[in-house]
Amino acid sequence: MKITIISGSTRNQSGSAKTSAYLKAQLNAIDDSQEVSIFDLAELNLPMWEEDTDLTQVAEQQAELEASDAFVFVVPEWHGMVPPAVKNLFFLFTGAFRHKPAYIVTVSAGSGGRYPIQEMRSTVYKNTYLNFIPVNTIIDRLNATIDDQGQYIAEKQFVANRVDEGLRLLLEYGKAFVQIRQSDIVQEKRFPNGV
Ligand SMILES: Cc1cc2nc3c(=O)[nH]c(=O)nc-3n(C[C@H](O)[C@H](O)[C@H](O)COP(=O)(O)O)c2cc1C
Repeated sequence: MKITIISGSTRNQSGSAKTSAYLKAQLNAIDDSQEVSIFDLAELNLPMWEEDTDLTQVAEQQAELEASDAFVFVVPEWHGMVPPAVKNLFFLFTGAFRHKPAYIVTVSAGSGGRYPIQEMRSTVYKNTYLNFIPVNTIIDRLNATIDDQGQYIAEKQFVANRVDEGLRLLLEYGKAFVQIRQSDIVQEKRFPNGV
């Protein structure tokens, strides 16, 4: 199974990138037979979607997302919202997320991180057919929780235990959703833009 961790910040040396490194190491520790990659929006420099955007320039990334069975969305809270570069993914890469499970992890240097969960859950699922699993994790006061090398440094296991729960559940949902994607109703694609 291939799991893609989407690091949702376009900033260099972002909190989202170090969180993604931590999550990748945790996934490998849980089950090293999985292929885990980080899709870092700071490195990819994707075009902002416009009506005449040439999508062949993002064909490689489209193929990478289409080959993924499950996603972790690491979403920083920016001005109380999901950053536009994360929303842009759902314009550029239509179809790549259909009937796949996703685990939302939000990050904040301060005490934020709640609003992006609501924003992702309230609308992103419809046209994408992305399935957010019932567990999400807020990592606030990030710099006291994960260091620049992606190591967990918080005194308490509070966050680590929740991440462990979210990642283990994501792996199980990932296995189950393979069957859903092979079903007749999903193959038909009657409502490509959601119902
Ligand atoms: C444009 C911008 C807006 C931000 N707004 C918020 C915010 O509303 N709430 C919050 O808790 N942190 C906010 N932050 C700080 C981020 O929580 C902090 O940078 C953290 O490391 C996650 O973002 P990053 O992955 O881009 O580093 C903001 C950061 C930026 C760059």
